[in-house]
Amino acid sequence: MIELEQGQHVGLIGTTGSGKTYFFKAAIMPQCKHLIVVDTEEMQFNALPEIRGDPLKFVRKLPKDKPYRIRWIPPPTAQPEAMEAMSEALIRYGRSIEVYIDELTDFSSAQSMQPWLKSLFRKARKRKITLIWASQRPAGVNKWAFDNSIHKFFFYVQEFDRHGLEKLYPGISSQLSSIKWQSYQSIYIGPSGFPAMQPSA
Ligand SMILES: Nc1ncnc2c1ncn2[C@@H]1O[C@H](COP(=O)(O)OP(=O)(O)OP(=O)(O)O)[C@@H](O)[C@H]1O
Ligand SMILES: [Mg+2]
Repeated sequence: MIELEQGQHVGLIGTTGSGKTYFFKAAIMPQCKHLIVVDTEEMQFNALPEIRGDPLKFVRKLPKDKPYRIRWIPPPTAQPEAMEAMSEALIRYGRSIEVYIDELTDFSSAQSMQPWLKSLFRKARKRKITLIWASQRPAGVNKWAFDNSIHKFFFYVQEFDRHGLEKLYPGISSQLSSIKWQSYQSIYIGPSGFPAMQPSA
């Protein structure tokens, strides 16, 4: 199991149902002291208290000395603007916060990343903001996001995606093919860069 350090970003990659959210809740969330879940699905984090409104107003007021875990639902009709506001608020007022984004490709593609996301990735580390992101589609994830996430967990993916990942991480494909569906195991690539089998949470 990894121990998170503040400002070290984490990527969780795997087909739908491969265990990303479960792993986040079981292995990562318990380590988070100041967590904001960007909840675009509105179902999986119902247990967390919900914060509404303008991020520029509420992020400033989040307690520094007390732990909290909250979810924030960006208004679907104003998503890029709301996410921009959240990113700006975090960069301005956020320190030592963990931010979970459940589907990175809602905001980026293989070719490009929405500017607020790139800027958040870049500026977060210095502010000890930890970004934890998940994605069902490795082919849709920017290489830049992989390169800027020190911890990566690759859960079950289809053959097509294994080949794609092999180009980024030579040797990973054969390791990935040993992961059986519903075993909820993953291949972990950390700072050393070597892929290693990770038991399920
Ligand atoms: N480690 C585990 N042990 C037991 N059951 C698990 C484990 N991981 C996942 N599951 C089961 O598999 C289901 C799907 O897992 P999860 O929701 O984490 O998938 P996901 O990768 O987040 O999928 P999606 O991309 O659709 O969000 C869970 O609801 C849970 O029932
Ligand atoms: Mg999920």
